[in-house]
Amino acid sequence: MTTSSQNRVLIFDTTLRDGEQSPGATMSHEEKLEIAEMLDDMGVDIIEAGFPIASEGDFEAVSQIAQRSKNAVICGLARANFKDIDRCAEAVRQSARPRIHTFIGTSPLHRAIPNLTMDEMADLIHDTVTHARNLVDNVQWSPMDATRTEFDYLCRVIEIAIKAGATTINIPDTVGYTAPRESADLIKRLIDTIPGADDVVFATHCHNDLGMATANSLAAVDAGARQIECTINGLGERAGNTALEEVVMAMKVRHDIMPYDTGIDTTKIMAISRRVATVSGFQVQYNKAIVGKNAFAHESGIHQDGMLKNAETFEIMRPEDVGLTESSLPLGKHSGRAALRAKLADLGYELADNQLKDVFVRFKALADRKKEVFDDDLVALLHDSASDEVHDHIQVKSMRVVCGTDGPQTADLTLTIGGEDVSTTAEGDGPVDATFNAVKALFPHGARLQLYQVHAVTEGTDAQATVSVRMEEDGKIATGQSSDTDTVVASAKAYVNALNRLLVRREKSRPGADVKQVTYTDPA
Ligand code: KIV
Ligand code: ZN
Repeated sequence: MTTSSQNRVLIFDTTLRDGEQSPGATMSHEEKLEIAEMLDDMGVDIIEAGFPIASEGDFEAVSQIAQRSKNAVICGLARANFKDIDRCAEAVRQSARPRIHTFIGTSPLHRAIPNLTMDEMADLIHDTVTHARNLVDNVQWSPMDATRTEFDYLCRVIEIAIKAGATTINIPDTVGYTAPRESADLIKRLIDTIPGADDVVFATHCHNDLGMATANSLAAVDAGARQIECTINGLGERAGNTALEEVVMAMKVRHDIMPYDTGIDTTKIMAISRRVATVSGFQVQYNKAIVGKNAFAHESGIHQDGMLKNAETFEIMRPEDVGLTESSLPLGKHSGRAALRAKLADLGYELADNQLKDVFVRFKALADRKKEVFDDDLVALLHDSASDEVHDHIQVKSMRVVCGTDGPQTADLTLTIGGEDVSTTAEGDGPVDATFNAVKALFPHGARLQLYQVHAVTEGTDAQATVSVRMEEDGKIATGQSSDTDTVVASAKAYVNALNRLLVRREKSRPGADVKQVTYTDPA
């Protein structure tokens, strides 16, 4: 079966907006820019970069992504009011291809919140879409909770939005309520019924509450939708959004029955999946389709035997299609810089010379402690956010913990705070608790620990542990991460990393703060 331009499906990534809305998945400004660059490089058509009115930080992120992105359309979200839309237009304006995405909840439950009659809401949709269209040429409109909106009303408001100038009509399954057949029927009926439907792109935006987001999105495409809204790793509120890697690979692998094309370079999937997992602190489940650690692992004897004879016996896609290199020999302490560079390139990371120099030093330190350095160890090393922030206000200088069956567990800790070494000994309920108590004694703060998560990078007792720590202070959330063969050291560094990030956020939110020039002050 051949495909035509009519079968080109646009990929709209909302990792930085709907994904980041997931409680605790907050990313720093620099991380957002980095993820946006990776999305742009992998061929995402539209990047929803944030919700500009939500905060100064969101506004800054959207406008900088708009300035930097080379290929993608840059989109910002706005509620149905002029203030949101104006702010959004201001943020996306710098993009060569700006889009405003404005929405309002149209289902009976959502209409009740602003307490608008159907007619009043219809007028508001007309006015706000017209206003957005006067600011940019590319306007997307969404009737939030579309799948629970009365069909006739949905048709009426979509027609109004099209007449007011919307160029994309997105149909959100906001609460993950629909099912594949219903998703397809809805899109088909809308396209068949609404005058002007052929002149706009219909999009599908599915949440995964019942685990059907991918199936619902693909069914919508079969029925005529030509834009899928999705996130990397399916990140998003509650059970998340449609996973980009799943819909893209489904259309590629089953092109025979889903003859649709995207512009995505699928070999970049693994690298961005890992990066999003790191910066969001949301690890990917082992058996997650496409990007899970076990997605291409074959444990059982029968499977391994079949794989050795012919990989197609148990693999419907090749690992390299998603950027997973055939795991060749691990590196060791005798491996040189060229071997490291080649291995990183295989893994999809091209480093500048100074970056390679830094990673090489850390690789050597790790290889001294660990006989074999596997691909996942290298990825953990690259993404160890605690290690690249050498100018951090707080740094872990040295530590020693005492633990075992006979308590109390104690931690001797020396931190460098603002260039000065300070030490203490603290007790706790276990070595990690003792270490965190020691950090708090040396750097008193009111931040609350929201998440402490340990994840073994590889198998074996000498494996590195990646620790994620999420902290919250006055509504601001920061995630820190670190990897080390010593779990308690990784914990201390991840905790301090999260604290440093909170300090940056605290400074940025000060009235009059220059977001590019952050200085630190100790808490009172
Ligand atoms: O899920 C949803 O309805 C949304 C809208 C803002 C499009 O994310
Ligand atoms: Zn959503």
